[in-house]
Amino acid sequence: VKTERPVAVTAHLRVAYTLAARRYARWVAPRFRPIARELLAEPAPAAAPGLDVGSGTGAAIAEWCRLLPTARLVAVDLTPAMLARSPAQHRLAADAASLPLADQTFRSVVSIFALHHLPAPVAALRDWWRVLAVGGELRVATWAANPRTLWDVFDDALAELGAAERPGPAGKPLDAEGVLSDAVTSAGFADVAVRRLSARFDFADATAYWRWRTAFPGAARVIAALPPGQRRRLRERVGDRLAGWTGPLISHHAVLFVRARRS
Ligand SMILES: C[S@@+](CC[C@H](N)C(=O)[O-])C[C@H]1O[C@@H](n2cnc3c(N)ncnc32)[C@H](O)[C@@H]1O
Repeated sequence: VKTERPVAVTAHLRVAYTLAARRYARWVAPRFRPIARELLAEPAPAAAPGLDVGSGTGAAIAEWCRLLPTARLVAVDLTPAMLARSPAQHRLAADAASLPLADQTFRSVVSIFALHHLPAPVAALRDWWRVLAVGGELRVATWAANPRTLWDVFDDALAELGAAERPGPAGKPLDAEGVLSDAVTSAGFADVAVRRLSARFDFADATAYWRWRTAFPGAARVIAALPPGQRRRLRERVGDRLAGWTGPLISHHAVLFVRARRS
């Protein structure tokens, strides 16, 4: 088994998010706003400097600004094409695991759906701890392990055509309460609390599903490499599978929400 070096994984991901950025901003980010709202819910995070890591097109930044219009926020992301579509005033293209930011700069560090991409998530969490001021708060939302759902229809159609996506970063995923809590604790945080919620994404029809599903980086990368005929066949197969789907077109996903503190 060949293990990719973290730097290669990261570069590969940046390419995929660059391909996806325009569609992601339009079809995915608005659907993540309720998750951002939940993560930033009572008590609201501090308005003093806040950091959003893996900020993408700014779902968390938009919600944070709505809650606290005077908040001073910095958005960090690996992919300039994602940041270019963000409403954040202060944007920084950087790796979440080695932030070019001074120690103890922020009162809050937030991250939504970025942790699962990181080849060394505990090392990244340690860096987030480093930039937090003493007493500062961490809030993270990340995917939990999920039973099969509407999401997988796309992958099944892709596999049928023999064009399946490459696997994500190697290593043990932080996709259950215990491993996630242990990782956050071992990165130095105190008062670690993890809770699980279910997010649902509803689609009016096959077009809405296709727009959403192909706006994620893995799918965007695969589609960019497919000849037009194959792309058309893939879309038809996704359509056929959706036509055979029992019940409304809803994708259910388990999400873990973390709160912790730098003591
Ligand atoms: C699923 S998107 C989430 C974006 C945003 N937080 C949201 O909720 O819409 C994941 C983001 O993490 C970024 N990302 C992936 N690996 C990263 C890394 N090593 N350092 C910083 N950002 C990274 C990607 O560029 C992408 O914008």
